[in-house]
Amino acid sequence: MKKINIAIDGYSACGKSSTAKRVAQRLGYIYIDSGAMYRAVTLYLQQHLIDIDNLEGIAQALPQIQIDFRKAGEVFHTFLNGVDVEQEIRQPAVAAQVSEVAAMSNVRRMLVEQQQKMAAQKGVVMEGRDIGSVVMPDAELKFFMTADVDVRTKRRQDELLKKSGKLFPLEELKANLQHRDRIDSTREDSPLTRVPNAIEIDTTHITLEEQIQLICDKAMALIKQAD
Ligand code: CDP
Repeated sequence: MKKINIAIDGYSACGKSSTAKRVAQRLGYIYIDSGAMYRAVTLYLQQHLIDIDNLEGIAQALPQIQIDFRKAGEVFHTFLNGVDVEQEIRQPAVAAQVSEVAAMSNVRRMLVEQQQKMAAQKGVVMEGRDIGSVVMPDAELKFFMTADVDVRTKRRQDELLKKSGKLFPLEELKANLQHRDRIDSTREDSPLTRVPNAIEIDTTHITLEEQIQLICDKAMALIKQAD
């Protein structure tokens, strides 16, 4: 069967990761979480006490950063220089600075190049902010996900509680989502935008299963058509 590439972009915490992961599983495709890579770069800078205003320090650090995804049981985890950082990169301390780091052109250049290499093989479901516009402009199928900010905040709180056992205050999480949405949408280099050929999915009132099914149906129709 012919393989296609699927791009999923959208605001923070509107269900892109959970959806993309399961769509990839059902289609037998590779799932790539591009946000995890920006989070890993941010974690590296924090671990090495490199301030986000220290542009020279960041430029020198980038060649030292190696990010890959490795299988950990049934799922893939993000590895930073050979160390599993899947838990750490999801913490609010990383979320607090990741959009500032992701707005830097040299950081984006390095990560986009790696993402494009991963996508070259086809059969990839990649999610992020610039996937349909910059990383995979030729993707056969593109989606743009949105959801009400309060619903997204609650979902993120539940997700963090499940992953780390900590209950983070809703106000703090909401402020971070809004802060990141603003920086991600207004930065100069590859801002989050809905490309004209992306299908918009508002996930406020639909279930995860409905989101997954919608994307899988569209993908299967295209794959069959192409065969
Ligand atoms: O999980 P959540 O939706 O909160 O965010 P994420 O997908 O893990 O992405 C974290 C941050 O990385 C975003 O807020 C963006 O600043 C940045 N990012 C980006 O600039 N481009 C991408 N393709 C993916 C993420």
